[in-house]
Amino acid sequence: MKKVLVISYSQTGQLTRLVENVTRPFMSEPTIEVTWREIKPKKPYPFPWQFMTFMDTFPESVYLDPCELENFEADTNEYDLVILAYQVWFLSPSIPITSFLKSDYAKEKLKNKPIITLIGCRNMWIMAQEKVKTLLGNIGAKLIDNIVLVDQGSSLATFITTPRWMMSGKKDALWGIFPKAGISEEALRSASRFGYAIKQALANDEEKKGVSLCHGLGAVSVDEKLIKSEKIGTKSFHIWGKLIRKCSKQGELKRKLFIMLYTIFLVCIIITVVPLNMLIQTLYRKLNKEEVLKQKALYELPSGSGTERMKEFSSYE
Ligand SMILES: Cc1cc2nc3c(=O)[nH]c(=O)nc-3n(C[C@H](O)[C@H](O)[C@H](O)COP(=O)(O)O)c2cc1C
Repeated sequence: MKKVLVISYSQTGQLTRLVENVTRPFMSEPTIEVTWREIKPKKPYPFPWQFMTFMDTFPESVYLDPCELENFEADTNEYDLVILAYQVWFLSPSIPITSFLKSDYAKEKLKNKPIITLIGCRNMWIMAQEKVKTLLGNIGAKLIDNIVLVDQGSSLATFITTPRWMMSGKKDALWGIFPKAGISEEALRSASRFGYAIKQALANDEEKKGVSLCHGLGAVSVDEKLIKSEKIGTKSFHIWGKLIRKCSKQGELKRKLFIMLYTIFLVCIIITVVPLNMLIQTLYRKLNKEEVLKQKALYELPSGSGTERMKEFSSYE
């Protein structure tokens, strides 16, 4: 009997659907026992978000400050595999996920265990995954796969559709030019291929080898245009986050003033520096093709962006 632990947190239910699709192929398998635990913050985060509350979470998100979580029920299981499903908040793992990774439960249950991370987010997840790698390293867990599904549409489209969804709850297509917010139905549906691959790998004890179980299935694709933007964004969040955390606490009036100031700064940067930076980055990528491709391949580890096994596992759908 193989024991699989699934850990997730979802506000809109999107990530829950993703987890359901990935685990469906082995949920009713008699040789696999799945324990699914959903993370519950003691003080729930609101959805839809008010703009100020949304922005107010950025300093704690980027500095990986934990929030209080409801305790999981007592658990004597030794797990063979752990699936950690998370979303990104401000280029960092969401606060509930960070809190879980810093909990005693994670320290006990994830130690020395093979971990598959499953991300559902807008499209900027690279720096968040680097932080998750560090948090997993801190508790001695072994990352063997990373599966990433991003919101449909171009970066420009999701810059409108994702925040609109987060702050109004509305997911529908907009003005005939912007697609529906969130991950496409097709991408969610076809995520079951990972479940079939995991089921087969568990049957062959592959999780014990510490190698990727989901390689060759298009698990992840780094958009090289976003690498530098994420690095710059993270730096900016850290500088402002440090200042804001030092001078005020979440919810305080003083905090609101700082957040407003940062928002104005952000808008100015987006209008002026971002377009100029995009031009410089396009040039940089053209001149340093090899270096950029090396970085892309590095951030795509351990699952990689190869698709050579897609046919084998898509035929199950
Ligand atoms: C506070 C907040 C910050 C977010 N920041 C990012 C981000 O930096 N990068 C990204 O790709 N998506 C970001 N998102 C989108 C989420 O990763 C995710 O797609 C969305 O919250 C839906 O996930 P759910 O299953 O929890 O509802 C953010 C969402 C929220 C609420």
